[in-house]
Amino acid sequence: MKKMCLVCCIYTTVVLLLVALLNFVIVPVIFKFSLGFQQSFIFPTFVIEPKNYTNPENYGINGVRNMYITVPYPTSENITLGIWQVLPKEMVSDIVNNDEYNYDGIIANGKTHILIYLHGNGSDRTKSIELYKILREIFHIFAIDYRGYADSTLGELTENNIVSDIAYIYKWLRKRSKSKMFIWGHSLGSGVATLLASRLKKENLTSTGVVLETPFTSVTDVMKSNYIVQFYSFLPWFDATILKPIRDNGMDFNSKLYISDVDSPIMILHAKDDDIIPYSIATELYYTALNNRNSTFQGNVTYYLYEEHGYGHLFIYLVPHLLNHVKIFVDECLQFEQSISIKNRSVI
Ligand SMILES: *[C@@H]1O[C@H](CO)[C@@H](O)[C@H](O)[C@H]1NC(C)=O
Ligand SMILES: *[C@@H]1O[C@H](CO)[C@@H](O)[C@H](O)[C@H]1NC(C)=O
Ligand SMILES: *[C@@H]1O[C@H](CO)[C@@H](O)[C@H](O)[C@H]1NC(C)=O
Ligand SMILES: *[C@@H]1O[C@H](CO)[C@@H](O)[C@H](O)[C@H]1NC(C)=O
Ligand SMILES: *[C@@H]1O[C@H](CO)[C@@H](O)[C@H](O)[C@H]1NC(C)=O
Ligand SMILES: *[C@@H]1O[C@H](CO)[C@@H](O)[C@H](O)[C@H]1NC(C)=O
Ligand SMILES: *[C@@H]1O[C@H](CO)[C@@H](O)[C@H](O)[C@H]1NC(C)=O
Repeated sequence: MKKMCLVCCIYTTVVLLLVALLNFVIVPVIFKFSLGFQQSFIFPTFVIEPKNYTNPENYGINGVRNMYITVPYPTSENITLGIWQVLPKEMVSDIVNNDEYNYDGIIANGKTHILIYLHGNGSDRTKSIELYKILREIFHIFAIDYRGYADSTLGELTENNIVSDIAYIYKWLRKRSKSKMFIWGHSLGSGVATLLASRLKKENLTSTGVVLETPFTSVTDVMKSNYIVQFYSFLPWFDATILKPIRDNGMDFNSKLYISDVDSPIMILHAKDDDIIPYSIATELYYTALNNRNSTFQGNVTYYLYEEHGYGHLFIYLVPHLLNHVKIFVDECLQFEQSISIKNRSVI
């Protein structure tokens, strides 16, 4: 009996040691050396079921054109991105019985502000329809699927590549339209939006306003708050095997670093009950923006932190006064843009 117990005990110990070895050594080491593992963690494109994006009506929205823009790359494969052009609400009634509707003409007429919508890492352009329905009251929306997402071309997913693609779309629209341009990024899209603004600044392009919905300081900060990742955080090799590879492989979207380059007013929206990105992270980004930007030349930062009403990470569109908050922000952006054209932005 006693012998049995000893064998049993040794056996259990060995199994536990093996499990611990697997979990705390093998898994982090594989993570460090597998770019595919890292990419599928940050860009879980596999969660998006294949769809036909041609008919947005099938998803419950009309007045939307499914379109594709090809981003040319001289030294690598060209990337074609799938986009939904969501017409401003006032124009929807015009098109219901008109198959030949001139969607390009609407881009050129410049009547309504353009909004570039950048979705989160587990999303595609169908997922924010309820938000488009609200925002199309005042915006002409272009919801873009990143490379590797939906029916966009598969391609190496790094922050540089994603931002290059989107910057091309931004300039594509800028060239064809006189509208004011706004950028809206949700979750991972907030990192894309911030980096995009920083990249555009280098080309002397400034959008009129930037909205960051449920944003973060950096992807590794979000990872550190994830309870599965936290399980590994006590390991002495945690940073070297889990976080550093994300930074080294260009997947960190360090908004904390780039937000000081944003030369337009910023609006941050977050909910206290967001359990994917804790609001403390958004608050930190807010203070970074507040302290590292010169609001005289770069515009104010507005932060709406919504109470716990079930908005979480995905349902901010349910905030009753959301459209009102956006309208106030847009007015402020227009006012700021007018004031800055009088002052001299190149002083900073
Ligand atoms: C992206 O999705 C993963 C799920 O794979 C999630 O854990 C992570 O927090 C998300 N990251 C960002 C920055 O949105
Ligand atoms: C999507 O649907 C459209 C029209 O319903 C059809 O013409 C097209 O072939 C479909 N695309 C795919 C990839 O199935
Ligand atoms: C990429 O796009 C450019 C510009 O449109 C075109 O000239 C080139 O042939 C394309 N490359 C490939 C491989 O399709
Ligand atoms: C941006 O503007 C600066 C100052 O006017 C100029 O020196 C620089 O060449 C411009 N850059 C681009 C990409 O146009
Ligand atoms: C912003 O820049 C202006 C001009 O350089 C300067 O006078 C002002 O003090 C700055 N404001 C802050 C908050 O740094
Ligand atoms: C920016 O904030 C300051 C201080 O709250 C305010 O006086 C100013 O009017 C704001 N600027 C704009 C363009 O709204
Ligand atoms: C704006 O700043 C540039 C560079 O400092 C300077 O050359 C130019 O004269 C300024 N323009 C105005 C209107 O102050």
